[in-house]
Amino acid sequence: MPGIRSPSDYSEEPKRHPALKINAKEPFNAEPRRQDLVSSYITPTEFFYKRNHGPIPVVDDIERYCVSVNGLINKPKDLFMKDIMNLPKYTVTATLQCAGNRRTAMSKTRTVRGVGWDVSALGNAIWGGAKLADVLELVGIPKLTSTTPTGGKHVEFVSIDKCKEEKGGPYKASIPLSVATNPEADVLLAYEMNGETLNRDHGYPLRVVVPGVIGARSVKWLDSINIDSQVCQGFFMQKDYKMFPPTVNWDNIDWSTRRPQNDFPVQSAICSLEDVNVGRNGKIAIKGYAVSGGGRGIERVDISIDGGKTWMEASRYQKPGVKYISDEEKSDKWAWVLFEAEADINSDTEIIAKAVDTAANVQPEKVEDVWNLRGILNTSWHRVHVQVRHSSM
Ligand code: MTE
Repeated sequence: MPGIRSPSDYSEEPKRHPALKINAKEPFNAEPRRQDLVSSYITPTEFFYKRNHGPIPVVDDIERYCVSVNGLINKPKDLFMKDIMNLPKYTVTATLQCAGNRRTAMSKTRTVRGVGWDVSALGNAIWGGAKLADVLELVGIPKLTSTTPTGGKHVEFVSIDKCKEEKGGPYKASIPLSVATNPEADVLLAYEMNGETLNRDHGYPLRVVVPGVIGARSVKWLDSINIDSQVCQGFFMQKDYKMFPPTVNWDNIDWSTRRPQNDFPVQSAICSLEDVNVGRNGKIAIKGYAVSGGGRGIERVDISIDGGKTWMEASRYQKPGVKYISDEEKSDKWAWVLFEAEADINSDTEIIAKAVDTAANVQPEKVEDVWNLRGILNTSWHRVHVQVRHSSM
């Protein structure tokens, strides 16, 4: 690929913030501490989780870097950064969440395969770039197309990085053409994150951002876009990131029976407290995030301090000074909400958070009910424990 290369080892990795919790070193996978995650509505780039499957690519010559668009289209084309940057620029505030978020907690009921993650494998950023719908128009595909005249129905994104799951081949994924060409789906080819040039960890020079969909489809370090009649056949679409019922194990799994996961379900987690906390009796602040996929807003966040017998509603917010209303235009539809509640704790307590989205989808109560062998989409009620030490005074 001109202008950009994929190192064969980890000797050219970028610098990362020392406060990140490292879940795997090579490839680099890390998440922020819980308190850091909810300290602001927009996640600072250095605290944004990093999920990689190989060494981070290196751009040697940005002038020569281009994305080739090919497949079932009449006008295959190489697009240089200047072509992408000449298109109208959009900024979209969107939460990216890894399907493996909260995997560590799922593995405590029954072992699962995959990198362990606490509750911070997600972040909320302002992504800047061109709309994929505009990019596809440059190669002759009109807006709101679900099939091209030559039978193209899916848009495959192929990256530069090489991963062992693809036997040394590039990371890839696809989304339906109908989503890619729908300007309201806000799919971006992003070159900016939080107002700055995208950094290497997050996909410099160009990445896909598919709002409301599991992070695995937001391909970083884009190399080519391929219009295809079928869903991408890559490892991460066919042999990973699929949701199986709890009865499926590694001996009876048939990957072809399930579809690749796209939208993520409703999720929330408490971030002001760790799994186990020791403190004095009295008031306690309960803060966290809630988010749903597919552009669905958060209608409610319920908090219980008695194991789920009774609930109180937390307050929800996004931007300072703008009241959050789950389906209002002024609220960012692809972004999380942060929530806040206060409770009086007098004895050892389990605190639970559960969110409800605008379609009235609710987080499931028990992790066992959504357990799956790859440990994805743990959206069960989030529980933390507070042990009260009464003062002797
Ligand atoms: N794109 C490439 N090229 N290589 C990858 O390893 N990881 C995917 C996705 N895009 C990945 C990729 C996964 S699983 C997630 S969750 C997100 O990128 C993570 O994006 P981030 O590291 O910017 O947070």
